[in-house]
Amino acid sequence: MSPIIVAIDGPAASGKSSTARAVAAQLGFRHLDSGALYRGVTLAAVRAGLPRPFDAPDVVAEAERWGVDLRPRNGDFEVVAGEPVPDASLRAAAVTEHVSEIAALAEVRCWVNEHLRRTALEGQGVVVDGRDIGSVVFPKAQLKVYLTASPAARAGRRLRQRGEAVDPEQLRRETEALAARDHADSSRAVAPLVRAADAVALDTSDLSFEEQVDRILELARDRGLASDG
Ligand code: DC
Repeated sequence: MSPIIVAIDGPAASGKSSTARAVAAQLGFRHLDSGALYRGVTLAAVRAGLPRPFDAPDVVAEAERWGVDLRPRNGDFEVVAGEPVPDASLRAAAVTEHVSEIAALAEVRCWVNEHLRRTALEGQGVVVDGRDIGSVVFPKAQLKVYLTASPAARAGRRLRQRGEAVDPEQLRRETEALAARDHADSSRAVAPLVRAADAVALDTSDLSFEEQVDRILELARDRGLASDG
């Protein structure tokens, strides 16, 4: 039987990953973080010292050479490059700086999508978060959610996550950085960030974390995807 797919898409810092993880835990599914795989590929390109602008076939070749892949772990999948890649390496500044450019390359997206589709087959269900999960990677997902939040709400969450001060100047800078990433992700030619026509939009600006998780679980129950549904 093909696995159940719950797709959660949305802009940077909309809370996709933490929400997807909690929803997956409640449903007894695994969490699959597609952004982490783009980061793994970017790490391989950075480690290999590839020149910019990045050349797609070279990036894919380095991902293969470093053995970038996803491996099942308790409740989710970890990125490996021969060996497990620590989260801190995936989120290092050098990776964050280049990942949007690498994620805009069509050949890289094909490579990543193939890995995501293959990985999703492991287990009875996955909650996948990203930018194009409901629109491109899993167009037949049983539930698609598009998470949004105001730029200020997202910037505030990002600063708190990093343990930084949420003063007006920091907030302004973070809001600008997020707007630049939103623009890069939404305006690229290949698989831009869009809300799939059949995705349920959920604005989380005024919701607590528990509330946003509950809303998605409610949608899953409505569709008969939860065992108690
Ligand atoms: O969610 P994140 O910040 O870890 O994502 C890293 C980058 O990868 C970000 O620039 C958007 C891109 N990405 C993408 O283009 N498509 C996805 N499905 C997931 C992430």
